[in-house]
Amino acid sequence: MSKAPPSTPPQTSRRQVLAGLSAAAVASAAGGPSFAEAAAEAKTPPLDGGVSSLTFTEIEHHLEATHAVSPGHDVQVLLRWGDAVLPGAPAWNPDAQTAAAQATQFGYDNDFIAFKPLPFGSNSSDRGLLCVNHEAARNHMMFAGFTNVDVQPKAEIDIEMAAVGFSIIEIARKGDTWSAVPGSTYNRRITATTPIAVSGPAAGHRRMRTKDDPTGRTILGTFGNCAGGETPWGTVLTAEENVQYFFGGDPKKSSEAASHALMGLNTRERLYSWDRHYDRFNVETEPQEPHRFGWMVEIDPYDPKRQPMKRTALGRFKHEGAGIVVNHDGRIVCYMGDDQSFQFIYKFVSRRAYDPKDRTWNWGLLDDGTLFVAKFNDDNTVTWMPLVWGTDPLTAANGFADQGDIVIDVRRAAALLGATPMDRPEDIEFSNSTGSVFVALSKNPRRNEKSVDAANPRVNNVQGHIMEILPGAKGDHAAQEARWQIFLLAGDPSDPKSGAQYNPGTSKNGWLSNPDNFVFDPKGRMWIGTDGANDFGYADGLWATDVVGAGRALTKLFFSCPIGGEMTGPAFTPDGTTLFCSIQHPGDVGDMNGSNFDKPLTRWPDFKDATPPRPSVIAIRAPGGKPIG
Ligand code: FEO
Ligand code: CA
Ligand code: CA
Repeated sequence: MSKAPPSTPPQTSRRQVLAGLSAAAVASAAGGPSFAEAAAEAKTPPLDGGVSSLTFTEIEHHLEATHAVSPGHDVQVLLRWGDAVLPGAPAWNPDAQTAAAQATQFGYDNDFIAFKPLPFGSNSSDRGLLCVNHEAARNHMMFAGFTNVDVQPKAEIDIEMAAVGFSIIEIARKGDTWSAVPGSTYNRRITATTPIAVSGPAAGHRRMRTKDDPTGRTILGTFGNCAGGETPWGTVLTAEENVQYFFGGDPKKSSEAASHALMGLNTRERLYSWDRHYDRFNVETEPQEPHRFGWMVEIDPYDPKRQPMKRTALGRFKHEGAGIVVNHDGRIVCYMGDDQSFQFIYKFVSRRAYDPKDRTWNWGLLDDGTLFVAKFNDDNTVTWMPLVWGTDPLTAANGFADQGDIVIDVRRAAALLGATPMDRPEDIEFSNSTGSVFVALSKNPRRNEKSVDAANPRVNNVQGHIMEILPGAKGDHAAQEARWQIFLLAGDPSDPKSGAQYNPGTSKNGWLSNPDNFVFDPKGRMWIGTDGANDFGYADGLWATDVVGAGRALTKLFFSCPIGGEMTGPAFTPDGTTLFCSIQHPGDVGDMNGSNFDKPLTRWPDFKDATPPRPSVIAIRAPGGKPIG
């Protein structure tokens, strides 16, 4: 870092800071609604009119082998599992897969998407970098004749390790058609074996060191990457979520048993057997390797030479995604959810201010600051509690020797502070229209009469809900006091037992289940992807709603996935004319027993005999380039 950190935050000029802010944030920085005004507004959401600003024709709930989209829109399958990313990538051949081929091809189970315009700093909507997570490698859908992980050949394990992680691929549009640019020098694959650097309080920490990496500063790979986030300086964050599935051995026999239990490592839910061939994935022989996963990883898509970085100041948990706000004083506030029933919502506040003109300076912003965890009080206030070592109870008396221990076991630290256990916090995003942050809570069937509270108000919450977190006084996202309110309670509102709550104008197809990923379009409308609707007899998909005005919480169904597929990673081009979506695990959903490579529920999107379904990124447009929605 070339500059000495300032002792007090505002490092950039007011003009520079405002240049990076949304209209709503500028309004509040310029003296917008007070905390009390915002709070009063929070209690009376105007769910009255039932008039949506979204003019697309709604489709019906369905459950079919293929997708469905609102009339007047085209769906292009842009990138499929196995498509070429790097030079020399061979054509995908599901019957002759190799790890070497997979390492040059688009990975499995695409999730988070960021569209980064090219050239850097432009608002281009016809050329850019598609940055995509590959959350999982579903062996039973990837390999013919798969039976179980304990007899899997090493060659398949190496393919899995090359199929997870991240892809960056340049794409370009001519007319209404997008194509990949496989020879682009920006293109990258990041896999379970790519060296990744570590920064923040856990870098080099004694509990981050292993036989292969005695420094604790270089980690091979990233996996379990679910959703993510985008920074104002053009980098992306990729969230390591269900990392417990990748480890073998008995965690109870490990010297780090308590920590592993906290992250959900167990001998029952083993979806991979990488440990059979690589000792670092066996927690009995390498007990600290799991500590090196469950982080937020920052990647610079515009600089292929820059090594990705695990930002440990953001804490270690089952990261779902990140919603980043430039605060009125220029500091960065990064909101994050921990995707598991009864886990927490966090925010990180940087010590230094963002400088729109200095990418090198900004690259270190997420290393230096304070991590907070949320307590959602029943009176609609939020208390953000700092996770700072040395302040009671986060001390040696409770087994925390330093801040490194706090971030490695941040779930335990957060619980000690009395954080509010939530109904599976998923995506979390800042809204330009409201100046607030929305968070999807996908479900929690284990919520009961004893554990129910105002912020998680339903017993047996199988459908999930969406909550809004308002900033503190004068729009201050760094404040320790804030407000919250429910945005909607998912489920079927025509079923009186569901407890569902939407805008009364919501149609019979407008209700949804299990909100997971969402994004705001350039007009500020919210597009919500779901994960779990198959359990209720219809497909996951994409619903859109206003967040302000008479159409607030009036969700409309725009797109339905093929059976088994989960809707992930929605992202718009800056002009709103293309909507990219990830269709994850088509033809595979936990409870539909028996779907596999040989007999899948669907062969979407190729529908070729004897080939399995392929997770794919699609591009949706209205021909001629009318803005979507
Ligand atoms: Fe990977 Fe939280 O869904
Ligand atoms: Ca997700
Ligand atoms: Ca999900």
